[in-house]
Amino acid sequence: MTSVTSLSDSVQQRLAAALTAALPDADSADPLLRRSDRADFQANGILALAKKAKANPRELATQVVGRVESGDVIKEIEVSGPGFLNITITDGAITETLAARYADADRLGVPPKETPGITVVDYAQPNVAKEMHVGHLRSAVIGDALRGMLDFTGERTIGRHHIGDWGTQFGMLIQYLFEHPGELAPPDAVDGEQAMSNLNRVYKASRAVFDSDEEFKERARKRVVALQSGDKETLDLWQQFVDESKVYFYSVFEKLDMEIRDEEIVGESAYNDMMPETARLLEESGVAVRSEGALVVFFDEIRGKDDQPVPLIVQKADGGFGYAASDLSAIRNRVTDLNATSLLYVVDVRQSLHFKMVFETARRAGWLSDEVTAHNMGYGTVLGADGKPFKTREGETVKLEDLLDEAVERATAVVREKAEKAGLTEEEIAENGRYVGIGAVKYADLSTSPSRDYKFDLDQMVSLNGDTSVYLQYAYARIRSILRKAEDAAPTPHPELELAPAERALGLHLDAFGTAVFEATAEYAPHKVAAYLYQLASLFTTFYDQCPVIRPRPAQDVVENRLFLCDMTARTLHKGMSLLSIRTPERL
Ligand code: ARG
Repeated sequence: MTSVTSLSDSVQQRLAAALTAALPDADSADPLLRRSDRADFQANGILALAKKAKANPRELATQVVGRVESGDVIKEIEVSGPGFLNITITDGAITETLAARYADADRLGVPPKETPGITVVDYAQPNVAKEMHVGHLRSAVIGDALRGMLDFTGERTIGRHHIGDWGTQFGMLIQYLFEHPGELAPPDAVDGEQAMSNLNRVYKASRAVFDSDEEFKERARKRVVALQSGDKETLDLWQQFVDESKVYFYSVFEKLDMEIRDEEIVGESAYNDMMPETARLLEESGVAVRSEGALVVFFDEIRGKDDQPVPLIVQKADGGFGYAASDLSAIRNRVTDLNATSLLYVVDVRQSLHFKMVFETARRAGWLSDEVTAHNMGYGTVLGADGKPFKTREGETVKLEDLLDEAVERATAVVREKAEKAGLTEEEIAENGRYVGIGAVKYADLSTSPSRDYKFDLDQMVSLNGDTSVYLQYAYARIRSILRKAEDAAPTPHPELELAPAERALGLHLDAFGTAVFEATAEYAPHKVAAYLYQLASLFTTFYDQCPVIRPRPAQDVVENRLFLCDMTARTLHKGMSLLSIRTPERL
């Protein structure tokens, strides 16, 4: 692994050194470098620094220009406006920097961070015995992408799928199964769809008895107590629901082309044994207080109707523990046992009040501190093409599998249209259809800021034009095809060559890949990676329009250097898409 300093970092360092030399007493010397349309980069920081030092900004800028070590990197540096600096990079430095990245096929020269932490990512958390909905889709897609990005920066990530596998509804389900044994087929005898339909059937049947039979209701209540106190027979039946549900979950995640590890499925139930202690610690420290029998935490700033304080309920008056107790216990586990330095929750924004109260409680209890941050990446609602919450025409919630199947179907049709020209087999068409369809669903989600609602519009998602994954996948496949066709020339950097404007623009953008990913990761913003990739594909298109690679054929060294730019673009697209967990087929 070679780690390559980006051109912007190298200019930044040179300017900072010159600034420090010109203003030895200033406590910061950030030139605030940005990409710019006028030159390659513009530094805007001198204005503020001059103001602080009571110096004339243009004079200071001129001094910096005089002191800067331009080396082989800076071709031109000039003062503009009230004290900006415009910087142009040499063509040779662009090609050489990219060549160094090219030599590191795995990381493209992007070094991992020096002091990585441990981030626990809580995502993809469906509920046992329930159908997954589009909200669960968002959590899975966003969480998986954030994890890919974090891993790339060198952070260690641990996944936690906090599935809903605990609570009073299990009393009803288990009691029903106890009285009607054999209603759930063994998990190894069913596929995902059958598992879910079995669960649905049992759910409906048990609900019907529960609603009509008072005595059953009472037996179900007793079952909850038996479950919480760890009664063996009850737990065995409960486990059947969990196992049957997992068959279903795994089938959906597989459809989503997403790897979920069994040891990371740690649901609400896993924290059951910790809950009494969590409650005791909170009560003893005075963070939680008894109120009408329940154990609760109050917050001055959180008020509901009639200005009444809304408490977080740690333990109900009947002694039962709920959602908050499991989340508080999970924080203790993640911080103390997993040594997490960051906790990230990818959960619907509608649960943001819950997390606000849980985090604040954990802070008061000392489980969260300045060393351990917690963040709820609250995502918005999935809307239909009509802009209303996503429902079927009949007003029912849409089944996730149906949605994914339809996306694949549409994508396969799109792929098939072009397939003949690309000479694809039926098998390749089917595989590409899956990669394009699932990629489209993921990308549409990821290219929107997570906090915003997003429209689930299949027509738009699989469109070849515009900001879609298909567009990026075609860009990738097209480059791969160019490289295959160029049999008599191999991608080879030639730093001595002059570059055309479109080559420079593409090159500078390629060089900024690592910076873009690191910035996006620090903000938990996958859409910024998506935006980077979309821009990359657009810059490539311009380059390919303006700079012939093979026809009409330029000189051999130009061909090689352009093929090198092509390959570097392909690798960067591939890497970036893989961080978002989207496939890039070689032929489309
Ligand atoms: N299972 C929950 C739901 O479907 C989401 C769980 C989120 N994670 C958590 N730690 N509370 O709404």
